[in-house]
Amino acid sequence: MPVYTVSNVQNLRICVVMVGLPARGKSFISQKIVRYLSWLSIKSKSFNVGNYRRQTGPPQPNAEFFDAKNKEAYKIRQQAVTKAVEDMMNWFVAEQGVVAILDATNSTRERRDWILRLCRENGIEPMFLESWCDDQELVLRNITDVKQTSPDYVGVDPEVAKRDFLERIAKYEEVYEPLDDNIDRDLTFVRLINVAQQVIINKIETYLESRVVFYVMNLHIKPRCIWLSRHGESVYNIEKKIGGDSSLSPRGLQYAKKLPDLVRQSAGDADLTVWTSTLIRTQETAQFLPYKQLQWKALDELDAGVCDGMTYEEIEEKYPEDFKARDEDKYEYRYRGGESYRDVVIRLEPIIMELERQENILIITHQAVLRCIYAYFMNVPQEESPWMSIPLHTLIRLEPRAYGTKVTRIKADIPAVSTYKEKGTSRVGEALTEATKSRHVLTNPSND
Ligand code: ATP
Ligand code: F6P
Repeated sequence: MPVYTVSNVQNLRICVVMVGLPARGKSFISQKIVRYLSWLSIKSKSFNVGNYRRQTGPPQPNAEFFDAKNKEAYKIRQQAVTKAVEDMMNWFVAEQGVVAILDATNSTRERRDWILRLCRENGIEPMFLESWCDDQELVLRNITDVKQTSPDYVGVDPEVAKRDFLERIAKYEEVYEPLDDNIDRDLTFVRLINVAQQVIINKIETYLESRVVFYVMNLHIKPRCIWLSRHGESVYNIEKKIGGDSSLSPRGLQYAKKLPDLVRQSAGDADLTVWTSTLIRTQETAQFLPYKQLQWKALDELDAGVCDGMTYEEIEEKYPEDFKARDEDKYEYRYRGGESYRDVVIRLEPIIMELERQENILIITHQAVLRCIYAYFMNVPQEESPWMSIPLHTLIRLEPRAYGTKVTRIKADIPAVSTYKEKGTSRVGEALTEATKSRHVLTNPSND
C-alpha cells in the first residue's frame, strides 16, 4: 500500500540553501532538519560542501585558502560546490529525494544566484536559510566545541587551530553579503538571528517549507538532557498481555520508588519536568518524583485495536495473517481498529517539537512510543526502530551534542520480565540483535 505524505501529494522538491559565515551552526541545523524530516518519512539529505572540498583540495588548508582573491584555491572551491550540486541534482532524480540541503556558506549573492538558476532549471524550489550571529562569545564557543576537532585541524595545536579559524572567518567577512529584505524580496528565505532571538521569513509558500521554518524556529542550543523511561513492570507485562491500563506489579512499584534516586544521580539538582501518558502505569511510575508533571494523551501506548489485552500467542492463534503481516512490516502494520508505528510517529510530532523548545525533560511512557522518540534522537531507520530493545527498569539519558546525541543507559537493578518479542515467534524474551545495541552517531562536518 503506497504511503502518501504531504511531499509526494504536492510533488514538491526543495533545496534548502544554507547561508552564513563559518561557525554559525549551519551544519548543526542541516543535520537536524534531515533527522526530523527523515523521521517523518520525508526523503532528505544534506550535501556538505566542506567534505567535497577535502576530497578535491588540500586536506588541511589554512586561512589563506579561503581568501576570495586566491585564484587557485577559488577554483578548487568552485569545483567542490559544483560536484556537490551535481550529486544533489542526481539524488533528486535517482532517489526521488524531496528535501536536499546544500550545506555551505553560500555567502555571496553571485554564488546564490548561480544556485537559484540551477534549481529553477531543474524544477526544484530553492529556500534560503541563513544563520546570522554577532555573538562573539558564542562563535568562540562553537570554534572550541567543534572546529578545533574538525578534520581540517587534525594534529594541529588547538590554539593555532582557533587563530586560523578566526582568520578564516575574517576572509569570509570580506565578501559576505547577508540576505537582504529588499534586494532578496523575491526569494523564499528564513533568517535566524542569534540562534532564534529574531526570525525573519519571506515568501514561505508551501506546507513543507512552513514545517521546516517552524522546526528551525523552535531549536535552541542551551545545554540540557532528556531522560526516557518505560513505566515500571505492570500486571499486564507479567501476564504477557499487550495494551490495557493495568497497574504496576510489586516490582514495578519498587522501580517507581527507586526512580527519584536514579534521576538525581544523573541530573543532580537540575530542575526538570516529567511528562507521562494518561495511562495508570506511567502515572504510578512518576508518583514519587518531586518535579512538576504533565500528562500527554499523545504519549499513550500504540493502540493494538482488537488485539488490546491479548497475548502475542493469542493474537497468532486468532489472527494468524495479521500476526505474520506485522512481523513482515512492523512499521507500517496497523492493528485492526488500532495503530501502526507510523501512526504513532505522526501523533508524536508535536511532542518532538515541544521537546526541541524545552530544556530538561523526563518522559515516562511505553515501549512502542519510546522506540519512536528514541529513533528521532538517535537517527534510527524506520525499519529498525520497531525492533529496538528498550528494557523495563532502565533510565535512558540523552544529551544533545553538536552533531549527534550522547546516550547513557542506567539500569535500576530491579528484575522485570522482558516484553521483547523477536521476529517470527510469539514468545517474549530478550534477544540481542544488532538493532538492540544503543547507537551513538557523532560526525564532524565543515563547510566550503
Ligand atoms: P562551517 O561553515 O565552518 O562548517 P557551520 O556554520 O556549519 O560552520 P557548525 O559546524 O554547524 O557551523 O557549528 C556547530 C556549532 O554551532 C554547535 O556548537 C552549535 O551549538 C552551534 N549552533 C547551532 N545553531 C546555531 C545558530 N543558529 N547560531 C550560532 N551557533 C549555532
Ligand atoms: O508489551 C508491552 C507493550 O507496551 C504493549 O502494551 C504494546 O502493545 C507493545 O509493548 C508494543 O511493542 P511491539 O510493537 O513490539 O508489539
